[in-house]
Amino acid sequence: MTNQEPRVVFTPSGKRGTVPAGTSVLDAARQLGVDLDSVCGGRGICSKCQIAPSFGEFPKHGLTAAENALSEWNSVEARYHEKRGLAAGRRLGCQAKIMGDMVIDVPPESQVHRQVVRKAATARDITMNPATRLHYIVVEEPDMHDPSGDFERVSAALERDWGIAGVRIAPRLLPILQGVLRRGGWNVTLAVHDDGRGGGPRVIGVWPGLRDDPPLGLAIDLGSTTIAAHLCSLTDGGVLASSGVMNPQIRFGEDLMSRVSYAMMNPGGADEMTAAVRSALDGLATAISEEAGTEPTDILETVVVCNPVMHHLLLGIDPVELGQAPFALATSSSLTLEARDIGLNSTGVAGQVYILPCVAGHVGADAAAVALSEAPDQADSLTLVIDVGTNAEILLGDKRRVLACSSPTGPAFEGAQISSGQRAAPGAIERVRIDPVTKAPRFRIIGVDLWSDDEGFAEAALATGITGICGSGIIEAVAEMRIAGIMDATGLIGSAEQTGTPRVVPEGRTHAYVLHDASADGGPLITVTQNDVRAIQLAKSALYAGARLLMDRIGTETVDRVILAGAFGAHISPLHAMVLGMIPDAPLDRVTSAGNAAGTGARIALCNIDARRGIEETVTRIHKVETAVEPKFQEHFVAANAIPHATAPYPELRAASALPDVSFGASGGEARRRRRRAVETG
Ligand code: FES
Repeated sequence: MTNQEPRVVFTPSGKRGTVPAGTSVLDAARQLGVDLDSVCGGRGICSKCQIAPSFGEFPKHGLTAAENALSEWNSVEARYHEKRGLAAGRRLGCQAKIMGDMVIDVPPESQVHRQVVRKAATARDITMNPATRLHYIVVEEPDMHDPSGDFERVSAALERDWGIAGVRIAPRLLPILQGVLRRGGWNVTLAVHDDGRGGGPRVIGVWPGLRDDPPLGLAIDLGSTTIAAHLCSLTDGGVLASSGVMNPQIRFGEDLMSRVSYAMMNPGGADEMTAAVRSALDGLATAISEEAGTEPTDILETVVVCNPVMHHLLLGIDPVELGQAPFALATSSSLTLEARDIGLNSTGVAGQVYILPCVAGHVGADAAAVALSEAPDQADSLTLVIDVGTNAEILLGDKRRVLACSSPTGPAFEGAQISSGQRAAPGAIERVRIDPVTKAPRFRIIGVDLWSDDEGFAEAALATGITGICGSGIIEAVAEMRIAGIMDATGLIGSAEQTGTPRVVPEGRTHAYVLHDASADGGPLITVTQNDVRAIQLAKSALYAGARLLMDRIGTETVDRVILAGAFGAHISPLHAMVLGMIPDAPLDRVTSAGNAAGTGARIALCNIDARRGIEETVTRIHKVETAVEPKFQEHFVAANAIPHATAPYPELRAASALPDVSFGASGGEARRRRRRAVETG
């Protein structure tokens, strides 16, 4: 050790500097701008400031850390270790003092701006920078000679210990503040919300003593057919539970325009739909909390992404203007509201809601969320992002420009309007393969990792049963029927005779393919009917036509990359999506599946307030194309009805998979012609 001030290097940030001997590691971190967490403000009770000191020679950093370069284990650390346990090699940063040159590692869980690692290879990680953080304070007790209010003393403590000045309190918290202060013996934990918008910090939660549990947030993708939600920790971004429900507004109309018509035709109809969706969201908040073993009142922030019609109905705005050109939104800006404003009554009493901005009248906050998650505006090559839902969001672009449109696909890809269709939930068939020779299917269901022909599948499936087909299952089933020659390019399912399999059964004047038959035991008969194929054809044609329209606008015949996203549960198989002609032809290895990108975008906005500002700025640069008034849309739609397409050559697909040249309509026509000839010749 020298007489000079000790040098300290923090890893992994690499930040370094000198501090007076005896400075705590937490103070040194603060002085050098190192990201080290703390909830208790250095009182040695929260353990959020844990660090891992390293000793020995560090030529890379040009210093040697002696064993005594850090103060000895003190009584506060000993007490903490005795009560809660500190892992070997860890110290409390607020207690350990720097006495000599040191290298100190800040583990990920002690970083305020820690990274949330996303699984998909192409996905960028999320950096935590939430609006809501917890702060523990010790508040002065009231004194007759100093007649300040309890909240004023809370505010003073927050400024003294955390440097947070000018805090306000959500009025809904005032009735409980005094009780909590007294129950906590004047030691309380506050949740302080500050989204950097100039509104200043605001207390939105208060608990007696030190609160160990992280504040929670809910990221909601409110779709026309399904509502998907992730319950997340606002400390580390971890997903505690993911869940979903059907949108109860379906009873007022399957798709967006039928809901707008319902609002137009029925006095009070919009209010009815508002009430239905609000109560579904509130129920979902309760159910997902139960699933995670937490309380809905712990949810302090919610982020909602949705299409414009859902947006208006959730906010209690009549969507009538969205049903007619020029499709004017009441507001396209992002919104910050109280949870109670949108009926989230079970969540934290002063919970906050953030709704992403809409792009335009038919392109909503869900498209903004997809843009946030998949960032086509940062891509070097031309990227097509398709978020499949009842109303699909389609984005095409790169660093130079991004175009967006929405396309009315209908609910087929979410399992609705399909004879055996269901929401993506345990028990739903999500993957399908059909043997091209025997025409026998095998499949996987959500919740079981085995294929249906694997040993042990029947036992494993007992827990959920085999209940129906979800969106990704129906996409694979129809594409596999085409690959196996059970269905021709026009989408017609052949008869048992034509296809050579008894798995094709008559269904009225058409045919259906049997995927699973448990009817002998009183179970379900799961088939893909001709009507199901027609519903999928309509949906995929709308999707393709939307994408093609954007390609026309950009002036390209091909795209470099396709990202498929959607709330249909499992990831879509790129090959099957292309066999079906849902997407334009592209090299198969450049087609990736992103899961629920809108939900991920909501999660990013929940975890990071800079991302909110970023997407608000990005949407102003996205150019919106209105499919409803584009004559070319209809033309593209009709050509896309064939599987995969009537005219587009699909060279990449043909190279990857040879589709059988079968035609079942022709033989029917042939039979009719033969009958006609027989009649004519008498
Ligand atoms: Fe809370 Fe160190 S800051 S234990």
